[in-house]
Amino acid sequence: MHSNGLCALVTGASMGIGKAIAFILAEQGYAVVCAARTTAKVEDTAAQIKEKGGRAIAVTADVARINDVQRMVDEAIRAFGTINVLINNAGGPLAGVLSPSPKSQDEFFSLMQRFMFSTVSDADWKKIFETNFFGVYNCTRAVLPIMLENNSGTIINITSKAGKIKTPVVPGMSAYATAKAAVARFTEVLAFELSCMGSAVRINAISPGMVAVSYHENLPPEERAMFRKPEEIQDILLRILNDASINGEVFSSETMTTWYQELREGNE
Ligand SMILES: NC(=O)c1ccc[n+]([C@@H]2O[C@H](COP(=O)([O-])OP(=O)(O)OC[C@H]3O[C@@H](n4cnc5c(N)ncnc54)[C@H](OP(=O)(O)O)[C@@H]3O)[C@@H](O)[C@H]2O)c1
Repeated sequence: MHSNGLCALVTGASMGIGKAIAFILAEQGYAVVCAARTTAKVEDTAAQIKEKGGRAIAVTADVARINDVQRMVDEAIRAFGTINVLINNAGGPLAGVLSPSPKSQDEFFSLMQRFMFSTVSDADWKKIFETNFFGVYNCTRAVLPIMLENNSGTIINITSKAGKIKTPVVPGMSAYATAKAAVARFTEVLAFELSCMGSAVRINAISPGMVAVSYHENLPPEERAMFRKPEEIQDILLRILNDASINGEVFSSETMTTWYQELREGNE
């Protein structure tokens, strides 16, 4: 793998979409800071990148904890000098209240029942919101000053169609959906502020649609075929990174066959 001299920090890089993003960025020459809470898994992501000739470090961090986030940023700077790209990917409908992830779709749906608003505890609701929204907030707070100082950098937030107004959701998603809606709006408003400041730092979001991750593994092949693969995020991810005119967008992939096609047909 070649080096492009840039550093990308990816949260939730231990599996699923975040792990795929870490590999994609390493292939593009980025030194990758792979962060998540499960040390063994996040170390595995970094080790696989290094085995292929890329540059990576693993950091154990909970994005909902400010001290962890600051340590993660400090370790990134120590290893690679600066942070050019931040991917705020860590999260999920049960993130913050469940680890490891559910083993099957059935387990996922039955667990979600526990999080119906009428029965969920205040602590669990806030923990899901905190991980999915304040995780993004904390990492952006910690990394943005570095990017402002460099007058360059790109932040990409992974949101969800669960956060889109008038979109069907699974029962039990009030904290998750509300947090993802907040992430989308935060993206738009912060991008606007950055452009008002004359800053070259950009912030965008991707709503990836239904992507097959750990708890979809046991699904019958015909159901699994309805899901995207995590690595399919590559087209839109690289398009955002490489096109300096894209700022404040929330890309969704609900109807198109590929994100790139949607970007071309829906947003250009
Ligand atoms: N899969 C889909 O269909 C889909 C659809 C729309 C949006 N998304 C979004 O895509 C993103 C990635 O989800 P995924 O589907 O790839 O799920 P996943 O396979 O469960 O991965 C979630 C990742 O986030 C990490 N994580 C969770 N809570 C964390 C915390 N507090 N601090 C740091 N890391 C944390 C997990 O690692 P640890 O448990 O080790 O911390 C893991 O690496 C999420 O933001 C999710 O909302 C997914």
